[in-house]
Amino acid sequence: MPININPHLGNMSSFSVAMLKTPPCLDGAKPMRHLRVPSEETQHWLEFCRNKGWLMPGAGVLTLEEGLKGIPIIDSAPNDGDEFWQGNSTFIAQGLTRGPEHWSDRLSKEILNQITHLLPKSHEIQGDVLIVKLDDEIMEFSQQIAQAMLEQFPSIRLVCADKGVVGNFRVRNLLPIASRDGNMTTRTKIKENNKSIWTDPAKAYFSARLSNERIQNLTSAIDLRSELNRKLRLCDPYAGVGPGIIPLILEHDLISHCYAGDLNPDAFELLELNLHDLISKNKLTEIDLVLKNQDARKWKNKQENINKIDFLLVNLPHDSINHLPELLPLLAKGSITKIRGWAIIERSELKNSENQIKNILNTSNADVKSIHCSEVKGFSSSKIFMRFETKQIIP
Ligand SMILES: C[S@@+](CC[C@H](N)C(=O)[O-])C[C@H]1O[C@@H](n2cnc3c(N)ncnc32)[C@H](O)[C@@H]1O
Repeated sequence: MPININPHLGNMSSFSVAMLKTPPCLDGAKPMRHLRVPSEETQHWLEFCRNKGWLMPGAGVLTLEEGLKGIPIIDSAPNDGDEFWQGNSTFIAQGLTRGPEHWSDRLSKEILNQITHLLPKSHEIQGDVLIVKLDDEIMEFSQQIAQAMLEQFPSIRLVCADKGVVGNFRVRNLLPIASRDGNMTTRTKIKENNKSIWTDPAKAYFSARLSNERIQNLTSAIDLRSELNRKLRLCDPYAGVGPGIIPLILEHDLISHCYAGDLNPDAFELLELNLHDLISKNKLTEIDLVLKNQDARKWKNKQENINKIDFLLVNLPHDSINHLPELLPLLAKGSITKIRGWAIIERSELKNSENQIKNILNTSNADVKSIHCSEVKGFSSSKIFMRFETKQIIP
């Protein structure tokens, strides 16, 4: 996106200026010298100035009117009219310079000296909320840290300290520290695969790191539709704010029924918001949608939910395998069904988990067509986050 700026013209005639590229983080515009060159000679003059040591470090090339460019040059570069410039003129305009590479460079030297060794090495961004773990010892500088982050990341509205995971729903305890516009809400919109999803990192679970798994859900469901030659009945009883089902229900002619729920009432509220938004915006009126704020194991208690589902998602990583027996009654009978689930297990237990899942399916007399367990990522030094995908026919 070009940024129009108002150049300081010195004694030059008027022209409008736009940045050629928008650097990731731009500081305030500063007046600086530029060499006006024909656009097609930009590379030549950039190299020439760089070799001579005259290029202004960290400043961008300006795009000028009439096919001209402005190369940012340092004050001590030759004067206007010097023969080095081969007839090209120099001018002064607001240059756009990159800000510091790292947010911590925006802290005062005094603070930086005190806390360098305790600075957080990473942070997470969900929508316009930045989440960072701050050591207790540097909490007294949390305001300065948050302000530095707000300056560094123009798209961030709110900076929150992450105080760890709490409660049954394993939601983060977030302490809002500073907001760009006074709005302290942690509710935010994230974009995944070009779709907007409401989430709230202080109230509901959401991880952008699993977006690949969600893409694979889609491929796997499309394969099942080809095998069944009809639209699918989908169930995601641990749906969170809904990222797993959104790509599936948006796929043309893939889903006929969608049963989704979550036990966490805050996550459920966002799930409803996301799905009703999506369905009305995309006119998906032919999908039969049932949403429930309930324990996943209760879906089977209603007769109308039994033996319905073709494609089941089981995403409760600490308990997926334990809950599985109570979800199997939902699977359709007499045709291929698929389960895609995720579990946290000991690294050495991959084969055992496969056997455990096979045994659970066998107790429902399932004709097991395939079971694949694979590591998605490491979870801790001894544990892994694994995906299981099973294909079976329940008689
Ligand atoms: C790992 S998250 C997965 C959320 C979502 N599927 C995703 O991919 O972002 C697990 C979800 O299960 C919900 N949950 C926990 N226990 C549950 C239960 N017994 N029944 C239904 N949902 C439960 C949590 O609130 C959480 O939203």
